[in-house]
Amino acid sequence: MLYLTLFLFLLGIGGFFFITTRASVILFESRKSRPDNHVYWIYRSPWLIWLIDRQFISSIILLFQYSRLVKQVLDQVGTSGSGKRVLQVSCVFGNFSQRLADCCHRFGELFILDIMHSEVRHARHKLSTQRQQAGSHYLQADAGAMPFQNGGFDHVISFFLFHELPPAMRQKVFDESLRVLKPGGSFVYGEFHKPDSPLVRRLSEIYFWIFEPYARSMRQWNPTATLDTKAWRINRVTVMGGYFQVVSLERLSTQRSEVGAVLTAPLDCRRPAARCHATGTREVLPQGVA
Ligand SMILES: C[S@@+](CC[C@H](N)C(=O)[O-])C[C@H]1O[C@@H](n2cnc3c(N)ncnc32)[C@H](O)[C@@H]1O
Repeated sequence: MLYLTLFLFLLGIGGFFFITTRASVILFESRKSRPDNHVYWIYRSPWLIWLIDRQFISSIILLFQYSRLVKQVLDQVGTSGSGKRVLQVSCVFGNFSQRLADCCHRFGELFILDIMHSEVRHARHKLSTQRQQAGSHYLQADAGAMPFQNGGFDHVISFFLFHELPPAMRQKVFDESLRVLKPGGSFVYGEFHKPDSPLVRRLSEIYFWIFEPYARSMRQWNPTATLDTKAWRINRVTVMGGYFQVVSLERLSTQRSEVGAVLTAPLDCRRPAARCHATGTREVLPQGVA
């Protein structure tokens, strides 16, 4: 009886995550083409975001390596210098943004960008302390076409975004993340990698096959292989026998930059991302969008 109850419980949880991830993407992709078709239901519905954005759930999904991975990312970002401009590419469940924002008394400004309005609003809600809020900006935009000039950020950071993107968008987001970096700045990302153990590799493939429709194509994707090593310093740290990686790409400062105002054109994000466009207002989440 106990085993049956446990089995049904796990089946229910698995079914719930299947419906809110892979199955929802199948449904959204059958609609008219939109840049956010690939985004899971769990990042769309404020109610689901509220339900699932729990630290212990994020920790379980990352096999209890969440804190360690966040620390690795923050370590790569470093602690030196004030007045820095940091971009977080897409929102993250758990306390990632809070920890990043807590570093921001050492930085100048933190920009958090996400394609879903519900996620941007949730991130703003999570950064609750005054110190976290100071210098934080929120932006609804597609990371594959960022509304920033070249070379405006000291650090660009993404945490487990790439495996949730279709291959063409994945490469665009990667290219955009490098484009907006200042010379001397770094792009740091945490992601799944290639487990050393064939058994773990096989099990992770099954997990991706069920829940993460785009993650399997990550194994063939190696964006750092095409980077010019005279222009980029590449550092990769692996965690848990190669299951996870934290990659840091430092743009060597010999490159030309076109640093200027950060936003090429301010956005009015009361509109859906697909129609998000310049309006002349700098406020990213205007007053009244709670
Ligand atoms: C960072 S990823 C997943 C992170 C991690 N699995 C978690 O538990 O939060 C999820 C976020 O990426 C966002 N996202 C997906 N595609 C995007 C894009 N093209 N541009 C900006 N944000 C995007 C989604 O809206 C969602 O908020």
